[in-house]
Amino acid sequence: MNWLIRPSDKLRGDVHVPGDKSISHRAVMHAALAQGTSHIRGFLRAGVTEAMLRCVRDLGLLVEFDQQGTLVVDGAGLHSPAAPLDCGNSGATIRMLMGALAGWPDVVTTLSGSAGLRRRPMKRVSEPLRLMGADIAEDTPPLVVRGRRLHGVEYTLPVASAQVKAAILLAALQADGPTTIHEPGPSRDHSERMLRALGVSVVDHHQTVTIEPIHGSLPAFELTVPGDISSATFLFAAAALVPDSEVTIRAVGMNETRTGIIDALQAMQAVVTIDNCRELGQEPIADVNIRASELQGITISGDWVVRMIDEFPMLAVMATQARGETIVRDAEELRVKESDRIGTLATELRKFGAQIEEQPDGFSIEGPTRLQGAVVDSHGDHRLAMSLAVAGLIAEGETTIVNAEACRESFPNFVELMQSLGTGGW
Ligand code: S3P
Repeated sequence: MNWLIRPSDKLRGDVHVPGDKSISHRAVMHAALAQGTSHIRGFLRAGVTEAMLRCVRDLGLLVEFDQQGTLVVDGAGLHSPAAPLDCGNSGATIRMLMGALAGWPDVVTTLSGSAGLRRRPMKRVSEPLRLMGADIAEDTPPLVVRGRRLHGVEYTLPVASAQVKAAILLAALQADGPTTIHEPGPSRDHSERMLRALGVSVVDHHQTVTIEPIHGSLPAFELTVPGDISSATFLFAAAALVPDSEVTIRAVGMNETRTGIIDALQAMQAVVTIDNCRELGQEPIADVNIRASELQGITISGDWVVRMIDEFPMLAVMATQARGETIVRDAEELRVKESDRIGTLATELRKFGAQIEEQPDGFSIEGPTRLQGAVVDSHGDHRLAMSLAVAGLIAEGETTIVNAEACRESFPNFVELMQSLGTGGW
């Protein structure tokens, strides 16, 4: 599918974005390991989470949406599937399943996925799991996981990855003793919060997480998923960039391991207001109002990168409109996302006439540049598709986004939501 986008002159609205992808993944994974029926409201229904649901069903669980759209999961233990599990394009699905399945004796599973998924690093998960005693054949999908009794370990993550941490925590639930994980950066802590709320002993102190095994099942639970700040980012940027705009996004997740983008918007001098800060279960949420803004270039490095790891495609587009240079460093992880986001961003933004220099661990962008409409490609990367679409709203002339269907992986109603803000023909 291609999108044809024309410049927009004013975006206005008061909206909600779909449920948080990371919290949705963890909720269904924890519900699968629970005894009894769990109810998850606001679950993200998109490509990557459908992949997780498909896998969990193939492991023998009853998982359905009720008439209100609440996800209902009947936890009853995991069973060997009849065929390889298809994790689609979802890194979180395959990595979390590796962790959950490693410690289920008698369950043997083959985990596979799309060509894109097969190119992404899995050794960072299989390595620590093997130290715990896991039996995992291969380091690239298809991977065969034979469930075994696991040991607690102390492990230092070589990269700040919440998916690897989540996989180790899932395995650690079934281990014979405590597990301690040292993190090099503040990766998202949704697993820790959710497990703690379920009564698991999880102590998190200065990026060292210690978890005790549960010797049994998790309890069934009720949960409401906050709006995804990573999806809201496309709306933040569109409102900041399109002249005369003002948009409010309600009930957005404000977990401080995810709010690097808010810090970036404020540092760029965007006009952002955060109101109605409250708790939704174990996660903070708020309403975010953002208006058309004159942006300034900024430098982002270190822990800040970790706290906005999914937001760099959108940040790069904003940087093309900011006065001065925007520099991103310490972000080599961007090379192993749904696309090599440093390479694909440089290639596609240059087609709009942007001035972007690629570095091994980031990029620098000189602004402001008047973007020219272009034919650009998502490279099958959902966040690239949506970021390039926002660039199209401020470019001169028409922009075509090729392979735009990638947006369905995390934000299926992106086009409808943008149109409701007034983007007109798409
Ligand atoms: C995620 C963690 C991040 C992020 C991804 C979701 C998670 O990946 O990029 O979109 O749910 O834990 P890494 O753990 O690979 O950094």
